[in-house]
Amino acid sequence: SFINFTYLPRYAYYFITGVEYTLALSVVAVLLAVIPALLLALMRLSKNKLIHHLSGAYIAVFRSTPLLVQLYIVYYGPFYAIKLPDLYLFGFINLKVFIPGVVALALNSSAYVAEIFRAGILAVDSGQTEAARSLGLSSWQAMRLVVLPQAIKNVLPALANEVVTMVKESSICSVMGMYELMWGAKTVATTTYISLSPYVVAAAIYFCINFPASKAIEAIERRMRRGDKR
Ligand code: ARG
Repeated sequence: SFINFTYLPRYAYYFITGVEYTLALSVVAVLLAVIPALLLALMRLSKNKLIHHLSGAYIAVFRSTPLLVQLYIVYYGPFYAIKLPDLYLFGFINLKVFIPGVVALALNSSAYVAEIFRAGILAVDSGQTEAARSLGLSSWQAMRLVVLPQAIKNVLPALANEVVTMVKESSICSVMGMYELMWGAKTVATTTYISLSPYVVAAAIYFCINFPASKAIEAIERRMRRGDKR
C-alpha cells in the first residue's frame, strides 16, 4: 500500500520516548531562558548605552544566525571540552546530549523571549511608573513592584507560544543524536527501510501536541482580554 503502518506496534517505543524527550527539552529550554531573557530585556531598556548595546548585540547574534549553527557551536565548543558523563536522568534523559541541546535552545530562546519581555514591559502604561515614582518608590522599586507584575500578565501567553515554537525547533537536536521525536522517526525509517511513513507519524504527533496547545493559549488570551475591559 501507499503508506504502511504495520511497523508501528514494534516501534512505538521510539515515538513515545521521542515525545518525552521533545516535551522535556522544550519546557526546560523555555524555563531556563526566562531569567536571562528578563535580564536582557531590562538591559535593553537601560539608559546606560553600553548595557543597552550589549543586550542588543546578544539578541542580534542569536536571532540572525541559524539555530542549527548555534547548536553545533555549543556542542563542539564549551561542551566538547567539559566531557559530560553518560548519565541518565529519570531513566531516559541522557545528560551528555541533553545538556548541550537544552543550553543551545535556551540561549536561542532567551533572545526571542527578551523581545517578548521588552514589549510586555513597554505595554504597561507609563502612568503606572509615574504614579509609583510620585509615591516615593525608586525607579527599580517601581519596575519590580508595579511594572513587572503587570507585564507578567501580558507576557504569559507569548511565553506559552514560545514552548510551542520550541517543540518544533527542538527537532534540530536530532542531528546530534538526541533521542527526541524527530530522531525517533529517523531511526524507525532507517531500521525498517520505510522512508515516508515514520515522518508522517512524527508530523501527526507534533501536530497533536501543538495545535491543541495553541488553541488553548488563544482561548486563555481571549478570556484575559475580556477581563481587562471590565
Ligand atoms: N528556526 C530558527 C532558526 O533556525 C529558530 C527560531 C527560534 N525561534 C524562537 N522563537 N526561539 O534560527
